[in-house]
Amino acid sequence: MGVAVAVCFATGLVSHYLQHPPGWAVDIAPSRPVWGYRFSQGLHVASGIAAIPLLLVKLWAVYPRLFVWPPVRSVRHALERASVAVLVGAATFQLFSGLLNTVQWYPWPFSFVPVHFAVAWLLVGALVLHLAVKWPDIRAHWRRGAEATAALSAEGAGPDRRSLLLGLAAAVGAVTVTTVGQSFTPLKSLDLLAPRHPDHGPQDLPVNRTAAAAGVLPAVRAVADWRLEVAGPRPFRLSLDELRALPQTEVELPIACVEGWSKNARWTGVRIKDLLERAGAPPGARLRVESLEVRGTYRVMEMGSEYAHDPLTLLALALNGQVLSADHGYPARIIAPNRPGVLQTKWVARLEVR
Ligand code: HEM
Repeated sequence: MGVAVAVCFATGLVSHYLQHPPGWAVDIAPSRPVWGYRFSQGLHVASGIAAIPLLLVKLWAVYPRLFVWPPVRSVRHALERASVAVLVGAATFQLFSGLLNTVQWYPWPFSFVPVHFAVAWLLVGALVLHLAVKWPDIRAHWRRGAEATAALSAEGAGPDRRSLLLGLAAAVGAVTVTTVGQSFTPLKSLDLLAPRHPDHGPQDLPVNRTAAAAGVLPAVRAVADWRLEVAGPRPFRLSLDELRALPQTEVELPIACVEGWSKNARWTGVRIKDLLERAGAPPGARLRVESLEVRGTYRVMEMGSEYAHDPLTLLALALNGQVLSADHGYPARIIAPNRPGVLQTKWVARLEVR
C-alpha cells in the first residue's frame, strides 16, 4: 500500500508539472524520453487501481479498532485517531475519485484535477505522520523478526495470514492484468475491465473528445475556407493543400491520455520548428496554439521552446498513413513527444510565436 501510494504520488506530480510547469520550467520541460508521460501516467493509473484491493483489505484488517473502548484515552491518542481519520478519508477519496475519472464520471460538484492534487498532499502528509507515530511499534516488530512470526503461527494466525496475503495478491493481480492492457499494449487482449481498449476508436486509436462533442463539426466541414494562421515577426496563412505541399516528416509517437490509456501511432505532417522558422521566430521562442473549438479547457495550449523546436514535434495531417479523421483533429493537430494527450491540440486554427 505504501509503495502504491508513493508511486501514485510521484507519477501524479510528474503529470501535474508536465501540464502546469512553473514559469521557470516551461522551456526546460523535457521532450525525452518520447514515451515518458505514457509510462508515468500508465503506472499512475495501474498502481492506483492495484491500491484499491490493498486499501479495502487494510481497512478490513483494522476496522475493529474503530470500536475500541474508551474511544479516546489521552490528547495524544485523540490526535492520532484524528490523523488516521484524515488518512483513511484521503486514501478512499483519491482511489475512488481517480477511478471514476478514468471512466469520465464526475458525480461531484467540484473540479476533479485541483481537488485530486490537493488531497494527494493531504494523503501523503497523513501517511508520513501515521508512520512516524507508529515507528516505535514498527521497529519493535521487525526487531522481534522470526520470533514474532513463529509466535503468530503457533497461535494459529499464520495460515490465516498466508491465505489473506495470497487472496490479496490474486485480487491485485486480477485487477492489474485486466486493466493494464489499456496502456501496456502487449497485454491488450486481456484488457477486459479498463474503460478504453487501445484498438477501439476511429483509425484504430481511441479518442476522448469527439469532433461532435467539441462542437467543431461545422468548422471541420468548411475546410475549403480553413487557413492555418501563423502569427509572428513574419506572419503567414496556409491552406490545407499548401501545408501538404511543404516537406512532410513521419514520426512514431504515442498518444498518452491523462486518464491512463495510451498507444503508439505513426504521424505525418509539417515540423513545427519549420513553421516557426518561416514565421521568423527567434531561437528559444515559445508557441501558443489555438483550436477551432469555441470553448473548453484545452482550446488554447502553450508549448515551451524545448517542445516547439524538437524535430519530432509536428503539425500532423495524417495518422497511420491516412488523412486525420474528424475525431483525431482534421484538418491538422499537434503531436509532440512526452506530452499529456490533453496538450496534443486537435483541430488547430492558429499558431502564435511567443
Ligand atoms: C494514492 C493515491 C493517489 C495519489 C496520491 C494521486 C495523485 C495524483 C496527482 C498529484 C495528480 C496530478 C493532478 C494535477 O494534474 O494537478 C494525479 C492525476 C491523476 N490521477 Fe491520481 N492519485 C492517486 C490515485 C489515483 C487513482 C487510483 C487513479 C485511477 C484509478 C488516479 C487517476 C488519476 C488521473 C486520471 C489523473 C490525471 C487527471 C488529469 O490531469 O486530468 N489517481 N493524481
